[in-house]
Amino acid sequence: MAIDVERSGAIAVVTVNRPEALNAIDVEHAAELRDRLEELAADEAVRAVILTGAGEKAFVAGADIKYMHGLGVLEARRWGELGHRVGALLETMPKPTVAAVNGFALGGGCELALACDLRLASTSAKLGQPEVNLGIFPGWGGTQRLARATSLAYAKELVFTGRMVGAEEALARGLVNAVHEAPELMTKALELCDTLAAKGPLALAYAKEAMNLALQGDHAESLETEARLFAMLFATADQKEGMAAFVEKREPRFRGS
Ligand code: CAA
Repeated sequence: MAIDVERSGAIAVVTVNRPEALNAIDVEHAAELRDRLEELAADEAVRAVILTGAGEKAFVAGADIKYMHGLGVLEARRWGELGHRVGALLETMPKPTVAAVNGFALGGGCELALACDLRLASTSAKLGQPEVNLGIFPGWGGTQRLARATSLAYAKELVFTGRMVGAEEALARGLVNAVHEAPELMTKALELCDTLAAKGPLALAYAKEAMNLALQGDHAESLETEARLFAMLFATADQKEGMAAFVEKREPRFRGS
């Protein structure tokens, strides 16, 4: 199987499994990744999704250069759109997505990590957008999301130079949320997702929808969206339960309704 999906309770771990090519993604892997993420997005039993790469060397070393080598303009357009669809699923599915960056996250690999809500890196992770070295630029969302995660000038530096950065620099620049020793990375990612899975799923879904507007579009309109989603949560059992639990000094039991 090119894309593995494993369940651990309410958490789904999605692994790009092509270690012989450092988990580079060709069209078959990209389509399968899209299909698996669509299923997980629609599955209410799944409360959080972790994306990682097989083996100890790479998260995803990029879009498959051997596949892209022969593409014409129209095929490249479709290829870009397929990557955008995968990124959009990670960015907008109504549950948190976490990238466990366990090695090289380059080009399209860095872009998929950037599409996730949160990023944890191993100390050995190397991230970057080396596309300029191939005569192209990032085409799976990197020209937009890298600047949003860090700063426009830093994003331009990485895209223009193609320089790879280590985990500590990535952490200092806000490119990742935390760094862990490699053997602990998946345990830490699962612990984080356990914490997230215990929260009210509707509250998280609406928070994600509202916060995805934070760095784009019309500010007043985005605040209007926040007001609408905030109010809608007061129609849910989870809001009643969460506040009752506080008043009664006990842990809430969220049901996603
Ligand atoms: N595409 C296809 N194959 C890849 C690949 C990629 N992105 N990255 C690695 N591989 C393959 C190598 O070709 C090699 O396979 P073979 O043994 O069959 O030749 C295998 O993985 C192992 O790689 P290396 O021998 O190169 O391993 P290394 O440890 O010496 O180097 C590396 C590791 C620095 C990550 C190097 O593999 C590398 O530079 N890879 C390319 C990284 C890159 O440029 N990524 C961006 C792609 S463009 C993109 O993603 C566009 C976009 O925005 C959508």
